[in-house]
Amino acid sequence: MSSLTDASGWNLVELADLQPGEITAILERAAELRESPVTQQSNSEKSVALLFSEPSTRTSLSFQVACQRLGVPFLELPAETSSLKKGETLLDTAQVLEALGAGALVVRDRDDAVIRNLADRCQAGVLNAGGGTRAHPSQALLDSRVLLDEWGSLEGRCIGILGDVAHSRVARSDMVAFTALGARVILFGPEEFVSEGGWLPGVETCHDFDSRLSELDAIQVLRIQHERIEGGMALSVQEYVDRFQLNEDRLARCGPEMCVLHPGPMNRGVEISDAVADGPQSRILQQVAAGVPVRMALLERALGNQRDSGHGDRH
Ligand code: CP
Repeated sequence: MSSLTDASGWNLVELADLQPGEITAILERAAELRESPVTQQSNSEKSVALLFSEPSTRTSLSFQVACQRLGVPFLELPAETSSLKKGETLLDTAQVLEALGAGALVVRDRDDAVIRNLADRCQAGVLNAGGGTRAHPSQALLDSRVLLDEWGSLEGRCIGILGDVAHSRVARSDMVAFTALGARVILFGPEEFVSEGGWLPGVETCHDFDSRLSELDAIQVLRIQHERIEGGMALSVQEYVDRFQLNEDRLARCGPEMCVLHPGPMNRGVEISDAVADGPQSRILQQVAAGVPVRMALLERALGNQRDSGHGDRH
């Protein structure tokens, strides 16, 4: 049963909460799980509850596939058809799910503080599947997994994050992951999306995308999150495309090993051209695929089933 005083699950609310070395350990475990696709039969009665109050395709489905591959049942509770619509709190909902046997809660919510509160108060492990504009840790881990698959190490690499950084939880988590793994990060975008300061130490900002293309080894292209922009954009979409769209011409001016990432969903023809999204340097579908083993590794920890107990610190 749930307990408000005996919180004991392994949680992942933000990557910055992890102990040094845990990011690497999770990514290594994900690689092991990818190489050994045999479904593990769960030896516990625990299930995984998926509680998404914002839309999702990739994250929700890849957590479901991860559960299937781990042999763990999952409960899917779409917010729109749940008693959340009648005013039940997320914490009460989480406790219902725990009472029904959930050992891990995978939560996406517009309010990142709500996810932190669940992690503090639930016995089940809580995995942040996207909280507000603040954190999307499993996305950053899978992005890192894809780049490690390309290069073996991120040490000394230069990774750009392009676009609507201001409203991007992916960008904030990517910065933590990429810098922790030794990469240099440059944020690109107009002034309204990339403010000068307040990012992680060492993270650079640049409003002139064309001026630094040749430095990049990879770029994470972001969607403009119109739904989070109050009062609309200052730039017109055409001005944005002219200055910041990743197209074939700009890609040709980057390094030959350049990897193109996009967390999805894409707005083709705005932040990225069709030719780049579907081209040979795109790793966008590899990102989707990497989500499964990364989320298997996270679920193992949250459920307390991780084999590598040396890395399974709880907090
Ligand atoms: N990258 C990502 O979070 O995609 P979804 O919103 O489709 O889950």
